[in-house]
Amino acid sequence: MCGIVGYIGAQQAAPLILEGLTRLEHRGYDSVGLAVVGAGREPAVKVVKAAGRVRDLGSDLPKRFSGRSGIGHTRWATHGPANDVNAHPHTDEKGDVAVVHNGIIDNAAALRARLADDGVTLTSDTDTEVLAHLIGRSVAETLEERVVEALAAVEGTYGIAVVHADFPDRIVVARNGSPLIIGVGEKEMLVASDLAALVRHTTTVAHLADGEIATLTPAGFTTFRHDLTRVARTAAEVDVDPTSYDAGDHESFMRKEMLEQPAAAERVLRGRLDERFGTAHLGGLEMDPRETRAVRRVKVLGCGSAYYVGQMGASLIEELARIPADAEAASEFRYRDPVIEPDTLYVAVSQSGETVDTLLAVQEIQRKGGRVIGLVNVVGSAIARECGAGIYLHAGPEVAVASTKALTNMFLGFSLLALQLGRVRDLSVADGRRLIAGLQALPAAVEEVLAQEDALAAVAQRLAEAESLFFVGRVRGFPVAREGAQKFKEISYRHAEAYQTSELKHGPLALISEEVPTVAVVPDDELTERNVAALHEIAARKGPLVVVTHPGVDLGGLDVVRIDVPHLERELDPILLTIPLQLLAYHAAKHLGHDIDKPRNLAKSVTVE
Ligand code: F6R
Repeated sequence: MCGIVGYIGAQQAAPLILEGLTRLEHRGYDSVGLAVVGAGREPAVKVVKAAGRVRDLGSDLPKRFSGRSGIGHTRWATHGPANDVNAHPHTDEKGDVAVVHNGIIDNAAALRARLADDGVTLTSDTDTEVLAHLIGRSVAETLEERVVEALAAVEGTYGIAVVHADFPDRIVVARNGSPLIIGVGEKEMLVASDLAALVRHTTTVAHLADGEIATLTPAGFTTFRHDLTRVARTAAEVDVDPTSYDAGDHESFMRKEMLEQPAAAERVLRGRLDERFGTAHLGGLEMDPRETRAVRRVKVLGCGSAYYVGQMGASLIEELARIPADAEAASEFRYRDPVIEPDTLYVAVSQSGETVDTLLAVQEIQRKGGRVIGLVNVVGSAIARECGAGIYLHAGPEVAVASTKALTNMFLGFSLLALQLGRVRDLSVADGRRLIAGLQALPAAVEEVLAQEDALAAVAQRLAEAESLFFVGRVRGFPVAREGAQKFKEISYRHAEAYQTSELKHGPLALISEEVPTVAVVPDDELTERNVAALHEIAARKGPLVVVTHPGVDLGGLDVVRIDVPHLERELDPILLTIPLQLLAYHAAKHLGHDIDKPRNLAKSVTVE
């Protein structure tokens, strides 16, 4: 959410910053800007910014913005609408200081009032602008001191990068709750809020920790605490393939990431399945069997789609390990002052590892002495580090705002955890092996569903015509319906409502008509008959039906569009039933001509509350 890039070195900064911003656009794309420190005897900070996308800044921009250091930003608006004035960087009155900022300054209103009382003219509606003025008004000797002085007045979260005309040899950056990664090049240094903006230039990086500031010069970087005492922080090589951040020949990242699911699924399972004992080995967990057995309850916390997959995961754990398990939206958790139980295993699930609602839930649990592990995709991310133990998802970089492959791997991560928890309890070795065989067959089964893309595209085009849709399912199928509706509304902008099939008759059936299609999840399980009965009720009200089901399920002669997915083991049904729903959402959005990777009003990684 919002992206920061900075560069200082021997090359021209503007083209590098623009390229980095393009790679970060999925984190916020309502406005963009950059500041370059010009060369010469009296270096000046030149700023360009506008509402819109990076491409809107114009291809001649690098020529107009010559200079070997600078900072850039791509914004997802929190304070003030997305317009040219509110875009970052923000400057002080003299225009000597430029600041880009991710996060939220909670006491911005008070600081704005104080600055206004002092005669400062604030030009934007943003919280960030106060930082530029505070730094600009400081008379401390060094830029580092000025930044620290300004930050002392600020309450809230931030990742910032600052340039100053009087200190043209450096960029100063600081972090509190919003990630910043320093990239070390050959006589050049970069900084970004996401690895994606760095890996084309360098894979030698250092993660800044909360409460730290750093100075970047072409020769290197130095990290400090706010009292300006030095912190030893060395850069290390990260194992990433820079091309994994490119869409390649794919028309969008979402399509690329959907198609990557079989390979990603293999990666998360690799080396973790123990066929001999019918269990899973999870190096990142380090729980001995006695500790594992002592778990009396499992509580999963995640947001959005991660929450829905968390529901699938909780059911899986309850089913296989016979431990009471449920999932809750992490964004609500800490506000209800939850009771934290010592024998509950809390599981935080997140693709980015940065979602602040999930991070705050983790901290709430830890503050009250609970044990929390992470199911996280991004290695070294805030949630992964805060949890200290967990299961990495190995889905690879996910760029599309609508999450797909990471969700599939979350489900598989839960399957591994459920196996481990189950096998120290009553799950038999035979059942463990049965599940393992299902997991091993899953990547090929996902491939089979993806192969139905053309047929699903045709169905999606018809669904896209409806203004409003229902997605329904029961028990195991309900989180599938929730995720299907989430994906559909997120990128097609159609109203898609998820409901328990069993609850339709208690109210929403009133909305069913020829104009309101229903996508029904009907697995081959103990509820099939009841599900089919509900389909009849919808059909009787002339509601068009798309049914995602298993081969052999008898739909009672109903006139429906039928989508069959492979049936492996019943416990694994939810994730395979989810895959066609991704494709339906994708093709509906494509049919409607939407920007699939960057849906309106959204951004990848929600780092504000
Ligand atoms: C939906 C989607 C979001 C995320 C949610 C949590 O496609 O991507 O609902 O699932 O914002 O994000 P992470 O998993 O990064 O914590």
